[in-house]
Amino acid sequence: MKDNKASNRNLTKAKNTKNDEFYTQYYDIEREVNAYLEYNPDVFREKTILLPCDDPEWSNFTKFFAQNFETFGLKKLISTSYAPDSKRYKTPYQPTLFETQNPQFDQKKTIINGKIFTLTKDKSGDGKIDINDLEWTYLEGDGDFRSKEIIKLRNEADFIITNPPFSLFREFLAWIVEANKDFLIIGSMNAITYKEIFPLIKEDKMWLGNGFKAGNAFFSSPTTNDYAEGVFNPNTGLVKFRNVVWFTNIDHGRRHQPLPLMTMADNIKFSKHKEIKGKEYQQYENYNAIEVSYTDAIPSDYEGVMGVPISFLNKYSPEQFEIIGMAEDNGKGFSGGIWDGQNPHCVINGKNKFKRIFIKHRNPTI
Ligand SMILES: C[S@@+](CC[C@H](N)C(=O)[O-])C[C@H]1O[C@@H](n2cnc3c(N)ncnc32)[C@H](O)[C@@H]1O
Repeated sequence: MKDNKASNRNLTKAKNTKNDEFYTQYYDIEREVNAYLEYNPDVFREKTILLPCDDPEWSNFTKFFAQNFETFGLKKLISTSYAPDSKRYKTPYQPTLFETQNPQFDQKKTIINGKIFTLTKDKSGDGKIDINDLEWTYLEGDGDFRSKEIIKLRNEADFIITNPPFSLFREFLAWIVEANKDFLIIGSMNAITYKEIFPLIKEDKMWLGNGFKAGNAFFSSPTTNDYAEGVFNPNTGLVKFRNVVWFTNIDHGRRHQPLPLMTMADNIKFSKHKEIKGKEYQQYENYNAIEVSYTDAIPSDYEGVMGVPISFLNKYSPEQFEIIGMAEDNGKGFSGGIWDGQNPHCVINGKNKFKRIFIKHRNPTI
């Protein structure tokens, strides 16, 4: 528990100090992408994937998609990196041998320009298309995703896939949505409550991906101090974040699996939660919905609106439930107040219940 709190705090700290240098593990990318391929093996066939905010010398996204270029049947892979000089969190920068030994190496550009890596064909002539066929050059600018140069690449792509800078998450998602692209990106679970983001989830334009193993996301980072105890592991060199999820609009199997549930009567009889067993489900004082504090305690036969924790979205199947709205705990009102203005917050026994999503069964089973 202490550990979880520490890793949550860590994410907040990363946001506050504007440290955006967290690199995703190959295994996590592979595990997540496999969920989409299992659902549709041709999901990436003949498609162009853009990996912005990447850093191929550090990052595994480029490696993963380059190595699987042929298996996935990709048309084109583009990855762009951000100039070391533009990064908020400065770490000593040393260009790789791969770059310095290349005839186009430029001592100035390596610091102030971003880079672009592209993969389309078997350049090396070894009969296969893989990481050895990546071509690269300096970008004209620093690789900021908001620059004209990267916007052009975005417009050309079918898929945008990355772990974007945490400090610019809202802006990054808006940048994808305005171009109407397919995407798979990493972000904080808390982003769900942002007023620009929740409507996308409610309207089924975005959902949670398959997810990190046991909800724990580990990233490598060039900074090793700065962390609460138990968060940075010196043996693995990895930083642990809880509460980090994949956001996507690409379909996968888990979201079409209905959550197995018990009736209200059975929950009251058999629930493993002491707050549920032998008790009544409580009605909010200020909203016509019942409080369900655990996703696995959602009664299968309740026809009305239910308030559930945000983590419900990890189990959400749009065929099983409809999302009605969302509430905040602190009396400040609904996030943005745009989807359900009449309910400021969920109250039980005079106490505010914290962040709840309101849902309804599409077909309650009696
Ligand atoms: C969380 S890291 C992830 C890196 C890589 N995608 C990965 O998952 O391994 C985000 C990267 O975006 C870069 N970045 C920060 N601001 C950016 C911007 N405005 N445009 C493009 N990249 C940016 C950071 O320097 C950092 O390298």
